Amino acid sequence: MSFPQTRLRRLRRSESLRALVREAAVEPGDLVYPLFLCPGEGVRREVGSMPGVFNLSVDEAVRDAEEAARLGLGGLLLFGLPESKDEQGSGAWDENGIVQHGLRALKESPAAKKLVLIADVCLCEYTSHGHCGLVVDTRDGFEVENDSSLDLLARAAVSLTQAGADVVAPSDMMDGRVGAIRRALDQEGSEDTPILSYASKFASAFYGPFREAADSAPQFGDRKTYQMDGANLREALREIDLDLEEGADMILMKPAMPYLDVIRAARERVGVPIGAYQVSGEYSMLQAAFAKGWLDHDRAILESLLGIRRAGADFVVTYFAKEAAKLLG
Ligand code: PBG
Repeated sequence: MSFPQTRLRRLRRSESLRALVREAAVEPGDLVYPLFLCPGEGVRREVGSMPGVFNLSVDEAVRDAEEAARLGLGGLLLFGLPESKDEQGSGAWDENGIVQHGLRALKESPAAKKLVLIADVCLCEYTSHGHCGLVVDTRDGFEVENDSSLDLLARAAVSLTQAGADVVAPSDMMDGRVGAIRRALDQEGSEDTPILSYASKFASAFYGPFREAADSAPQFGDRKTYQMDGANLREALREIDLDLEEGADMILMKPAMPYLDVIRAARERVGVPIGAYQVSGEYSMLQAAFAKGWLDHDRAILESLLGIRRAGADFVVTYFAKEAAKLLG
């Protein structure tokens, strides 16, 4: 049946009709809000390339978390800027580390502890060289070692769990880290802590502003020997299969907007919950366009999130989480 019997415009004639037949939706509970914790008290330092995003001392972060809870957000994703860095990234598994401290404070707030507290597990914010694993010198420069990094990542995951993380989210892209983390958690009696693995993480220019926010830019070289090549969809699916075999409970896809096809392919392949990360560069380019008056702020935020949900993500990590929840509410 085609035109004139079929007229798709009939179901677009009013907002109530459009609402009735709407296929995908964004709700505050599907959104996860990233926080960047830093030392000190009363610190609320805006990130230059991310207007509206702040480095927050723990007391300030608790306030933001309480607001996030009032807005009905699903959870928080925690990153840390440590007091000092070293070659190994020991701040990542320090029981008095910045994120560990933040987790304990958030768990003391009746409002904040209702959120799912997800701890990012990586070394790059804690290493002096800014890489996500251990660096060794080689004849032709340097190498980010895989196997020797696994133990450190596992220690970080255990420490963050003991401090109160509800979920750990390894973002380093070392091979075998999900299995190493699962074994370490089980050994420490944390067999009920889920792993959200950044299974499909591409080496992307869109992480640029984050590296300012988290002070985690590599001091030499780049991340192309561990993060994925942007051209590879089949490889992304292999990463996902392997992480699930190693025991990942959920997967995170990243970035989102330039990789919506990868999210869709993952959705069609696996049954586990899928999150997508609308990363810093996606946020910053929209903010830049808003500042110029080139895009409609409210509509562009919601459309960008709806596209990610429609592609197949169950939840979205986004710096717009609070603003989106206000718009939806
Ligand atoms: C740490 C990590 C990064 C992001 C999340 N976890 C940076 C990177 O891989 O360089 C990026 C998030 C964003 O851009 O918003 N490895």
